[in-house]
Amino acid sequence: MNTVFAEAPGRVNLLGEHTDYNDGFVLPIAIAQRTRVSMRPNGAGDFTLRAEELGETVRFGFEAPPTAHFASYVYGCLVLARAEGAEIPGLDISVSSDVPMGVGLSSSAALEVATLRCLRELLALRLDDVRIAQLAQRAEIEFAQVRCGIMDQMASSLAATDRALLIDTRTLERRDVPLPAGSTVLVLDSGTPRSLAASGYNQRRAECEAAASGLGKASLRDVGRLDELDVLPDLLRRRARHVFTENARVLQAAGTTDAAAFGRLMNASHASLRDDYEVSTPQLDQLVALLQAHPGVHGARLTGAGFGGACVALCRTGAEQQVANEVLARYAAAGEAGRQLVPAAQRA
Ligand code: GLA
Repeated sequence: MNTVFAEAPGRVNLLGEHTDYNDGFVLPIAIAQRTRVSMRPNGAGDFTLRAEELGETVRFGFEAPPTAHFASYVYGCLVLARAEGAEIPGLDISVSSDVPMGVGLSSSAALEVATLRCLRELLALRLDDVRIAQLAQRAEIEFAQVRCGIMDQMASSLAATDRALLIDTRTLERRDVPLPAGSTVLVLDSGTPRSLAASGYNQRRAECEAAASGLGKASLRDVGRLDELDVLPDLLRRRARHVFTENARVLQAAGTTDAAAFGRLMNASHASLRDDYEVSTPQLDQLVALLQAHPGVHGARLTGAGFGGACVALCRTGAEQQVANEVLARYAAAGEAGRQLVPAAQRA
């Protein structure tokens, strides 16, 4: 058998943060950066995995799981594909990626989806793109121990780079949403690691589950009116209020063609993530404030799980590079080191 290749993109979420594990709505868009996976049957019973960017090769088998964290995503995909009935031979696997890691652009979902696509291609598996997203999410939950929702894997598997994808995470129904005319997405890294991301993320998730059960609902998606939340203790009420108002913002944004209105919803999302959901950081707040104050920006917010990582802005098309340069210069003058992630900075 020949070598088979597949790839999958990272994503940036425009609106709908911390809504996916509450059965809510999200609005991600794929980014140009992607992860590429190649596989070649090696005639042996085990696997080698080469991570080009890390310069590491690890060897593992179904009965001897890898210890390296990056390999657990691939291992999880192999185990789950086998559980779907695939007969998987020993493979030499190679991974290379230009998706920025650890900033909230879903490098792990890109790896999972590219791995599953490669297996689909190699073994002619009957997996559609939604099934691939579902298996990728399970790989992340069961093998990388992050209790994530399904947004990242759905976006990597199904979203395009030139329009956003509205996803109802309860039904997985989806629809393309064009960006408002004359607007362009800019993503900047705040330069601060997402150190609390895993513990803080799981804690928020538990708080949402406690809020839903306090309201006697299956999930926070089922909250119909804001005043239903008044019975909750203050902290759970604020968490639930973020989810309720964020779902409304996603649906409003998906229904507007006005860049300024879309931008205002992004600004409101950031305030809600900062004040009600408490997943922002001083650096993210500062970078978002600099973006929001720039005349070339319609709106800006932190993106992804928060606790550090990246911000997304909707810019006037043509202004994005100037926005990036000026905002990053002001951020540097304040003693912080940010960088441009999307559009990928031109190499000198
Ligand atoms: C991470 C998770 C997603 C989602 C976001 C927050 O990216 O993987 O499922 O919950 O955080 O919106």
